[in-house]
Amino acid sequence: MKIKKGIAQEGFVKWESPSNIALVKYWGKYGRQYPTNPSISFTLSNAKTSTSCKYTIKENSQDPIISNFKFEGKENLAFENRIQKFLTSVIDYFPVLNQLSLELESENTFPHSSGIASSASAMSALALCICDIEKSIVEDYKENFTQRASILARLGSGSASRSVIEKLAIWGKNDFVAHADNDYAIAFGDNVHTDFHKYHDDILIVSKNEKSVSSSAGHKLMDGNPYAEARYQDANKNLGLILNAMKSGDHDAFIHIVEREAMSLHALMMCSDPSYILMEPNTIEVINRVRSFRRETNIPVCFTLDAGPNVHLLYPDDYTDKLTPFISEQLMPLTQNHNIIRDHVGNGPTKLD
Ligand code: DP6
Repeated sequence: MKIKKGIAQEGFVKWESPSNIALVKYWGKYGRQYPTNPSISFTLSNAKTSTSCKYTIKENSQDPIISNFKFEGKENLAFENRIQKFLTSVIDYFPVLNQLSLELESENTFPHSSGIASSASAMSALALCICDIEKSIVEDYKENFTQRASILARLGSGSASRSVIEKLAIWGKNDFVAHADNDYAIAFGDNVHTDFHKYHDDILIVSKNEKSVSSSAGHKLMDGNPYAEARYQDANKNLGLILNAMKSGDHDAFIHIVEREAMSLHALMMCSDPSYILMEPNTIEVINRVRSFRRETNIPVCFTLDAGPNVHLLYPDDYTDKLTPFISEQLMPLTQNHNIIRDHVGNGPTKLD
């Protein structure tokens, strides 16, 4: 890797990148953040991180990569140390980092303490900034930019690999999509029914307290989980089923798989050793009310969960008006301080000026 000759010694890039919600869940990993099963997610739109990066090409490769890190306007040493450690650990994949000194500023559009995962949007925004710098300063750059950003995002946080892709992303080798890869996520939105391009994800914040077991610790516990192998096979099978459902626009089949995936994720936590529960009583109450409402009305609304107590309510755009009173009257009272983030499938990251 060589830096282009005669270029400016400093510059600035800024990217905004969204969070995502998995339909078939990544849970369990090996080696350098490779997934033990394939996953698929909707890329979101409103829940996002914007990161700006002022870079200088440095003389001495021993100097730290990060010279300053601000989160939501304030210096944040804990985040700075984490990112410094992460970027140092990936220099073998991204040798350009040896030559860079970075001043970073990052902020989320959703409240920091809302209890929704920010690692996917944060790591993908950071990865896009670094890969953008790499693209503009490295001589003979021939990489696929999105793939490269997905790889770096993945090394930061597995699910972040999917956030660089618009609409619908698949990450991980599987029996159904030949070009899917464990290194990076690929786009799949163009292959599904257009109903799924306009799906809503209303995130009901049941609790914004910090989780008792982090996702990283949860993934590790899969190593000793007696059901792990069966789970990896089930996830692979579910990917095949959900792809068929999404291609044909079969909402009932889609709902069936999405909800089973959410339940399986939490069942895996409950049978880990030590076992743990991330759902709260109101998580279960929301699930029961969503299922009753669906039975009574036939409206194709379903829930999914990530590794926490908050419920993601998924439904097609056409049903928004019919769902709004149900959400405000029956579900909002079950959230913490009537906290809800209304989001929908989005077009992926954007480069900002
Ligand atoms: C339940 O990507 O947060 O949201 O790779 O350790 O950073 P790390 O884990 P992370 O795990 C996400 C798990 C999940 C399911 C998913 O998004 O696929």
